[in-house]
Amino acid sequence: MTEEERILELRESLHQHNHNYYVLNAPVITDQEFDSLMHELQELEQRHPEMYDPNSPTQRVGSDLNNEFQTVRHERPMLSLANTYNRQDVMDFYQRVSEGLSGQPFQVCCELKFDGLSISLHYEHGRLVRAVTRGDGVQGDDVTRNVRTIRSIPLALPKGAGWPDTFEIRGEVLMPWASFERLNRQREEEGEPLFANPRNAASGTLKSKNSSTVAQRGLDAYLYYLLGDDVPGDGHFQRLETARRWGFQVSGNMRLVDSLQGIYDYIDYWDQERRHLPVATDGIVLKVNSLAQQRSLGMTAKSPRWAIAYKFQAEQAETILRQVVYQVGRTGAVTPVANMDPVLLAGTTVRRATLHNADVMENLNLHVGDHVLVEKGGEIIPKIVGVKEANTSAPPIRFITRCPVCGTPLARYEGEAAHYCPNETGCPPLILGRIEHFISRKAMNINSLGPETIDDYYRQGLIHDAADLYELGEEQLLKPSAGDQKGVRKILKSIEESRQVPFERVLFAIGIRFVGEIAAKTLARYYGSMEAVANASLDSLQQINGIGLVIAQSVVSYFRDPKNLEFVQRLQRYGLRMTLGEEEQKAQSDRLQGKGIVISGVFQHHSRDEYKAMIEQHGGKNVGSISAKTSFVLAGENMGPAKLEKAGKLGIPIVSEEEFLKMLEDEEDEAD
Ligand code: IVH
Repeated sequence: MTEEERILELRESLHQHNHNYYVLNAPVITDQEFDSLMHELQELEQRHPEMYDPNSPTQRVGSDLNNEFQTVRHERPMLSLANTYNRQDVMDFYQRVSEGLSGQPFQVCCELKFDGLSISLHYEHGRLVRAVTRGDGVQGDDVTRNVRTIRSIPLALPKGAGWPDTFEIRGEVLMPWASFERLNRQREEEGEPLFANPRNAASGTLKSKNSSTVAQRGLDAYLYYLLGDDVPGDGHFQRLETARRWGFQVSGNMRLVDSLQGIYDYIDYWDQERRHLPVATDGIVLKVNSLAQQRSLGMTAKSPRWAIAYKFQAEQAETILRQVVYQVGRTGAVTPVANMDPVLLAGTTVRRATLHNADVMENLNLHVGDHVLVEKGGEIIPKIVGVKEANTSAPPIRFITRCPVCGTPLARYEGEAAHYCPNETGCPPLILGRIEHFISRKAMNINSLGPETIDDYYRQGLIHDAADLYELGEEQLLKPSAGDQKGVRKILKSIEESRQVPFERVLFAIGIRFVGEIAAKTLARYYGSMEAVANASLDSLQQINGIGLVIAQSVVSYFRDPKNLEFVQRLQRYGLRMTLGEEEQKAQSDRLQGKGIVISGVFQHHSRDEYKAMIEQHGGKNVGSISAKTSFVLAGENMGPAKLEKAGKLGIPIVSEEEFLKMLEDEEDEAD
């Protein structure tokens, strides 16, 4: 067997083992055996870059390449469902359907309503080609790179299983409770804001610009709607059973019923039983099963007449409001929190509930002593949803106007619901937040320090800002309660090592509002030094691809503040990197040296201008037309036939978008 043949064989067998493990929960080989096959494939693929395939099982790990999502139109609009909340609504639906079908008998498929975000997957010749979010129902974001990392979504379907050449399948991407809890624990340790519920976490993750982040977060997907002209079967339920045979994860909890009582029984059962599921659900979905009957019922402008969602009632309890207190988070956001008489709710005793922000709180019109209704919905933290009996003898509670910690008047930024304490360099929770961000893994990565140690140092007066870390010595840290000798040495060592962190991460670490990891990288590469970034004008900043007005303004205002300038100068004196290293500059200029490249066609991942910039950054030249001197054609979809022919005649290689990105990606890996 040739290496090429072995690659194909390994891919097929790994697809099957993935399916056994992630969909069937029935692996037939050990984890070690799996890893060793994967390893073999990785090595072979590295030796055969010409066999690159975005659907290879090795691609499930994602990449660090910046994802810009392309907006694509849905072939068929993604409708949503009308919601109902009680039995009467369900009965009305049942009767409407029955009348719409002139009294014909009909079956209803009952399903769980998964609480994540909907996704549309397109397969061609048995391979995943595109994954698109719902968006506004008419068009959504192309998130294919991210979706490829979700293990339960098949990248290539088993041969001969009877799937048609093209079809679409829709479902819900979600984050199982276990992954959600692990993620929030990790974020807590790293001082990052927590996700309120698995749906937000799934949605934030799927829209992540970095597919290797997605790969690590343990997303899952259930498919619940199979579409396409050549899909076999004339019942919804039967079609999903077919999809299951093709390798898709379809819930085993769907039931076909033929009476209203059957629907009620399903609702009653799952209203309780859903608590034991590994994923969040927020209701059930009822669908008329026969596709012919679906067609005859048709749609309204917003939703099909043949389906409806029934939402579970969130559990509520009544108690008395005693006080509203205000928490200042590490970003400066001020959250009102209600203290209440303890009450039992969904199995736990609840004493506190969030009131979210000033608008939510004032809409409730609260007084101390009110009898309030507390609810636990999809959120982990309970919330007050209404007042049962107001205590009007007390004055209404108003949101505070000054920071409860430092007394500075609060600010509210346009488009944001929260109030913020703007005293970034003087209010303790904000100072601590900035230091935590500074030491975090993706910034300076001072991993021997955690939020508690930082709190401790701050309280002892050892540090007042992140720059102070570089003045710490053994004598200070060995004072009682600051730590043992071994621990202290470790801390000092990792502070010392952080001086070598590349400039782009230093730029991220200093905490310019809105300048995330990606923007910091972009700025660092564009300007090359802290000094140049600090002197950049608003105009110059906005010229850069990926930097909008909000980021540009924030950069300018950061470097206008003398306190920030002094902070950055101190970091420079302590020896942190303030310029792009030689290797990083070199990494930007080697690979395409001397190459003349023609760009042609329509692209999925980046715009034409971005590709042009990438070619230049890597030392290549973008040329307009194909000649014998052209090194290769970077071709998107629908490349013109004339160009294609000319390239063929001259023997000029055609490089796909993915292959091109892979070329640059490999280089970035080498530079790391
Ligand atoms: S069917 C035309 N089935 O709920 C049929 N949707 O508003 C459209 N959802 O956008 C969807 N579980 O994100 C369907 N078993 C299920 C579902 C489900 C969750 C979500 C989906 C949809 C929303 C309905």
